[in-house]
Amino acid sequence: MADVRLLTEEPDQRHVLRRAWPHLREHRRAMVAAIAVNLLSTLSLTLVPVMIGRAVDELLDGDRTGLLVTAGVVLGLVVVRTVLLRWSELLLTRVGEKVVHSLRDLVVERLGTTSLRFLEAHRGGDLLQRATVEIAELATFVRSQLPDLISLGGYLLFSVIVLLASSWQLFGLLVLVFGPPMWWISRRFRRAAQAAYPAEAAAQATLAATFSESLLAREQLQIDGATSTWLDRLRQDADGYLRTARAAQRGATWIDATWIVQGLTSAALLVAGGILANEGVVTVGVVVTFVLASRDLFSSIDDFTLVAGEMLESRVGLARLLDLLDATSSPHAPQNPEKSGTSGGTAGTGLSADAVTYSYRPGEPVLHGVSVHFAAGEHAGIVGETGSGKTTLAKLLCGLYLPDAGAVRLGGADLSGLGAAEVRRRLVLIPQQVHMIAGTFADNLALTPGRPGPQEFARAAERLGLTGWVAGLPGGFDAELGRRGERFSAGERQLVGLLRAAMTEPEVLILDEATADLDPATAHRIEEALARLRRNRTVLVIAHRPSTIDRLPRVVRLHAGRLTSPEG
Ligand SMILES: Nc1ncnc2c1ncn2[C@@H]1O[C@H](COP(=O)(O)OP(=O)(O)OP(=O)(O)O)[C@@H](O)[C@H]1O
Ligand SMILES: [Mg+2]
Repeated sequence: MADVRLLTEEPDQRHVLRRAWPHLREHRRAMVAAIAVNLLSTLSLTLVPVMIGRAVDELLDGDRTGLLVTAGVVLGLVVVRTVLLRWSELLLTRVGEKVVHSLRDLVVERLGTTSLRFLEAHRGGDLLQRATVEIAELATFVRSQLPDLISLGGYLLFSVIVLLASSWQLFGLLVLVFGPPMWWISRRFRRAAQAAYPAEAAAQATLAATFSESLLAREQLQIDGATSTWLDRLRQDADGYLRTARAAQRGATWIDATWIVQGLTSAALLVAGGILANEGVVTVGVVVTFVLASRDLFSSIDDFTLVAGEMLESRVGLARLLDLLDATSSPHAPQNPEKSGTSGGTAGTGLSADAVTYSYRPGEPVLHGVSVHFAAGEHAGIVGETGSGKTTLAKLLCGLYLPDAGAVRLGGADLSGLGAAEVRRRLVLIPQQVHMIAGTFADNLALTPGRPGPQEFARAAERLGLTGWVAGLPGGFDAELGRRGERFSAGERQLVGLLRAAMTEPEVLILDEATADLDPATAHRIEEALARLRRNRTVLVIAHRPSTIDRLPRVVRLHAGRLTSPEG
């Protein structure tokens, strides 16, 4: 298991924003613009209570003109605040969408090029959760939580300046009554949430994985009548998720305690303000400013505490997403660059495995030091009982897995030293079960390097003698194959694989014969197509059917992960 770094269920959450910055950097200008607009809008809001306080003093002094001007300013500030806030929201929404777009592209690209071993080592549902839900959470963070955070920061700063300038006595009181209890409450909340949210996210991913696996296995489940066993598993996972969600909810209760602190602070300000105004230390307007400003401050803290929980969840989601990006960061980079110089030139020496060892699980090798050589242009077969390691050897020979020990060489060059694109172009494996995507026959054929079109499809079909077969399909290349290509049998899917191979023109083609029974016509078409594809390339067939084995000029036999027949 040397070449994969596995994902962590509850990955490190420290400095997630700093670690995410490289992915956000390209959007920094738009973010700065949105933040600046948001801060301006917050500044307008901060000035409203000051103006109202001033209006109260003008009212008490009987200054009518001043009062009218101040009322006009208040109205202007409110309009400016509303317009700027909406503008900053629009800007941030746009940034959020861009972030999601580029991250989703990156994740898809990484998952598409990362090692097969990495993909097989993880549950599909977990990868899906990270690639969709958790990216969307990041967008929500940029779109809605970030503005709240900025508003609160700006509001705190501007309020401190304005209130301190109005009355240091009342400001001191506000800090003393409000500060310490809020600090304590937020500490309790953070502590509870830090334990609860990562567990909740992991439990949610587990539930998603179990659900998607049971959907994929639905046919088998019904055949086996094992639906109730799966329901039990789902129920267990759902219970686990509920438990973690409840713990997260309990943590959030701390936030409600802030209401009491706010009430106390307002009361203290009113009482102290009344006394100070009576003694002529401050004007009534200043007391009004304080009470209004502190209410605004509370409501923006309320908004913030509402999103504080979501922010911690986003942090967990972001950490899980970064974990995925880190784990897939150098997709199939040449592992031994010094060996990569020989790519292409020495194809004449064929394909060989040198003392190749491979294990899916540490300490349980499936292949033990397998050495075999296939000359360029050779046509050979690999046979052996089920579970002997034929498919595993085929995947190693195609560079889909990297060996734990030993090496696979094509034309003398170690496959681990070649780039992924080159490996995919030069070696093609048609697996036992060819997977199809939802759509037409043509959509599935288009999944070939070089994005071939109808002309290439037709040429490939003609080359392999499959034109008649294609013409017999309703719609030809435009035939709808169903969601997972279920209209095609296992053998017909392998014909799709052969057509793709004909368009790729690899040096080496490996066909892992379908184990399902093929109808004689399809089996004949595969034989025929292979015979036509054979020219000028190495073709290996992992043979299951005696009829195929009989026709093969050379056969190597695997038994329990070891070669038993003399190798060439
Ligand atoms: N993705 C995997 N994860 C863990 N173990 C695996 C995986 N794929 C195969 N194995 C195990 O490795 C061993 C060899 O499997 P492999 O598929 O290579 O056999 P095979 O010779 O192709 O069998 P068959 O004739 O049934 O296709 C088996 O014991 C199998 O259980
Ligand atoms: Mg197999």
